[in-house]
Amino acid sequence: MRCQTLKLYYLLFFIITLSLSHSANSKSLLHLRRGASISVEDNTFITSPDNSFTCGFYAIPGSNPCWFAIWFTNSKDKTVVWTANRDRPVNSQGSRVSIGGDGTMVLTDVDGSIKWQTNTTSTDDVAAAELLNSGNLVLKNTRGHIFWQSFDFPTDTLLPSQTLTKNKRLVSSLRKGSFESGYFNLYFGNDNVLSSIFDCPETSSIYWPNPNYDIYKNGRTNYNSSRIAFLDDVGMFRSSDKLKANASDKGFGIKRRLAIDHDGNIRIHSLINSTGLWMITWQAISQPCEVHGVCGTNGICVYAPTPKCICTPGYEMNDPSDWIAGCKPTFKEALLSSPVNFLELSQTDYFGFDLYFRPNFTLEACRELCLGDTRCKAFTYRTWGNGHCYVKSALFNGIMSLDFPGSTYIKLPRSVQVSKPSIFHGSSITCDSREAEILVDSLSMYHFNRRTVRWVYIYSFCGALGAIELIFVVLGWWFLFKKHGVPASVEAGYCMISSQFRRFNYGELKKATNNFREELGRGSSGIVYKGVLADDRVVAVKRLGDVFQGQDEFWAEMTTVGKINHINLVRMWGFCSERRHRLLVYEYVDNMSLDKHIFNSSFLGWKQRFAVALGTAKGLAYLHNECLEWVIHCDVKPENILLDIEFQPKIADFGLAKLSQRDGPGSKISKIRGTQGYMAPDWALNLPITAKVDVYSYGVVVLELIKGIKLSNWAVDDTDDDEIPLKTFGMTVKEKVQCGNSSWVDSIVDQRLEGRFSRNQAATLIGIGLSCVEENRTKRPTMASVIQTLLECEDETEMQNPDKL
Ligand SMILES: *[C@@H]1O[C@H](CO)[C@@H](O)[C@H](O)[C@H]1NC(C)=O
Ligand SMILES: *[C@@H]1O[C@H](CO)[C@@H](O)[C@H](O)[C@H]1NC(C)=O
Ligand SMILES: *[C@@H]1O[C@H](CO)[C@@H](O)[C@H](O)[C@H]1NC(C)=O
Ligand SMILES: *[C@@H]1O[C@H](CO)[C@@H](O)[C@H](O)[C@H]1NC(C)=O
Ligand SMILES: *[C@@H]1O[C@H](CO)[C@@H](O)[C@H](O)[C@H]1NC(C)=O
Repeated sequence: MRCQTLKLYYLLFFIITLSLSHSANSKSLLHLRRGASISVEDNTFITSPDNSFTCGFYAIPGSNPCWFAIWFTNSKDKTVVWTANRDRPVNSQGSRVSIGGDGTMVLTDVDGSIKWQTNTTSTDDVAAAELLNSGNLVLKNTRGHIFWQSFDFPTDTLLPSQTLTKNKRLVSSLRKGSFESGYFNLYFGNDNVLSSIFDCPETSSIYWPNPNYDIYKNGRTNYNSSRIAFLDDVGMFRSSDKLKANASDKGFGIKRRLAIDHDGNIRIHSLINSTGLWMITWQAISQPCEVHGVCGTNGICVYAPTPKCICTPGYEMNDPSDWIAGCKPTFKEALLSSPVNFLELSQTDYFGFDLYFRPNFTLEACRELCLGDTRCKAFTYRTWGNGHCYVKSALFNGIMSLDFPGSTYIKLPRSVQVSKPSIFHGSSITCDSREAEILVDSLSMYHFNRRTVRWVYIYSFCGALGAIELIFVVLGWWFLFKKHGVPASVEAGYCMISSQFRRFNYGELKKATNNFREELGRGSSGIVYKGVLADDRVVAVKRLGDVFQGQDEFWAEMTTVGKINHINLVRMWGFCSERRHRLLVYEYVDNMSLDKHIFNSSFLGWKQRFAVALGTAKGLAYLHNECLEWVIHCDVKPENILLDIEFQPKIADFGLAKLSQRDGPGSKISKIRGTQGYMAPDWALNLPITAKVDVYSYGVVVLELIKGIKLSNWAVDDTDDDEIPLKTFGMTVKEKVQCGNSSWVDSIVDQRLEGRFSRNQAATLIGIGLSCVEENRTKRPTMASVIQTLLECEDETEMQNPDKL
């Protein structure tokens, strides 16, 4: 379905291009002189001297409203960077813009009503309007003095050399493809910090920088009151509060724009010369669900794995075509004062709207508190420390995230029967549950909406043109990707562009790796080399040993893997598939793999070990929870867990095992993959391969992490005490626990730590480790529940050293 819309989008590009360029009789001006005017019908535009920007009347084809706007001449969709009459469109017939005798630029509608004008006055000797190469429309006199400039009145876009200052703000568009003001704002707050706020009539809340941290933790300052931010010509975005961000394609000569997009994220977009498409080269918020308000009231933002909105159970969409309108209860609110039930939504939080906050509270007491207040719609219970209670008067900014340790309990009348959406049942998401619209995807090319419904008219109108479009635009794709069909490939192309994931050519990688000189490691699937890309990014390039797949299959897998983005997974930047070469380009991770840090003389401290266990679990849970393409790693082992500069784990080599079929669990992976010692018995027993094989391997890794020695060696060497096979180890632990010897934990944890560890955390980890390596896979926990258990003891600080007690 999405593909369909995308194709239509392509068609749209085509039409826009056609309608804007075919006007053979269109005129372009360098100046609009005082006393002159242009009307929509004139087909006259003001262009910048280098022709990179155009200013004039802009209409969405097929719809009547029209804007006086500035756009990028060379972008495929004529991306608009400024509109004069954003919220007051004019008629696309008979409207006119003119510079009157008094030196004011005025936009009049067909009925003569003034929809917009500049604040210039008759005492200013304005001579003409001119569009500068920067995209700034200025009114100036003959000596070049500027009286008015569009740069002072930004809409949602900041161009290089334009500044965002104290009294200006960028305001997002309400919807993709429309210009009317939305609710997301980028501005300097009273604390001098450049912030983003969701600001709608009912509520407002700041979501960037991260509201859970203070200014300094967010890397900002509040002492500099100059309040100025700008994007420079090389792609660096700076602000007086010390924010510094670089576009990933840093350098001169690239057209860029910074915008607060309709999904509330702040991004730098760079124009690709050859295609006229935009590439996202920086974005402020990596987790789209953290933008407040994206799913409206009573909505919840979930990752499945692309972010999407769902309604809180018991609620339904106000407007099926528009998430901003949120959800409404399916029951009468008055019923909430009659007997109620609570529905638990695990790992779900709603930001703000707390009637009460009670730290160190029991779940039962929290429930009572909510029951006792008719305003209470739900309560959130965080399982941190002794448990924290938040009683909610409204359900806003809902987010379901594996990182959230706790649940929200929704108050629902007894008479209302609801079931939890499948997303709340851990990895048992059914892949067909795509009824909810994918919303906040960074491209959102396919997020069509009310306003654009009119475009559909044009599609049918141009049905014949569709055929031409197919021939001219998509033919190439068709040839390359017969198997997957055209639209899917086109879509994939977009995804890659937007997520910075791209295809490299072989020469490029050969050069980056200095002809594959520096070897980082060897694995079963290939050799990894260090390299430096042209943009100075340091990368690890993996050269796959045997060409194990055809082009089609390889592409298909890469597009999936390329979309995977999680802090605990090694990021893939791209790939190369040329003739017989298959290479994968990954981010370079500084601190080598985990095995080098536990089985060696240099070893990790307890805190880091715990963080590795937790981070690895998060990474795996992310892979397993994917709905569209359920990824089983199949080769979890310390060698595949890399540590970054802060010793946070990043799982490598995922997505190489054949992705499991979409029919979900029970599918077959024909070729055995994995490493002796970490492989679940499922493989040997010829059972269907499910995510539980990763759980098993994770268990072995956790136990090794605790013990500090390799347990995965099945080959027992009697003479070497360190090599205890896993089974014996498990049995020993169980005996010890049963014997009730309270010091059992100490005898198991790595002696090299000399007792410097948290007993509670160690006991929890050992418990998890053992349950993960259960022979019977149904007894193994899911990665999501492992995370829950770990989060509950995450902030444990007790570090006993028995010698010193
Ligand atoms: C017009 O607005 C700009 C920006 O707010 C301001 O700098 C300028 O002084 C105003 N001009 C007049 C004549 O009010
Ligand atoms: C405040 O920020 C501005 C703009 O970034 C900078 O020029 C100025 O030096 C800063 N002032 C202080 C006191 O740091
Ligand atoms: C951006 O680039 C500049 C210059 O290359 C560098 O000094 C700075 O550290 C970079 N900033 C970030 C956030 O990467
Ligand atoms: C893109 O085109 C502009 C002007 O046409 C040119 O100056 C610039 O170097 C080109 N950039 C790239 C990356 O090719
Ligand atoms: C919660 O309990 C812990 C210890 O049980 C205590 O240290 C902390 O101060 C309590 N927090 C509050 C806000 O009462």
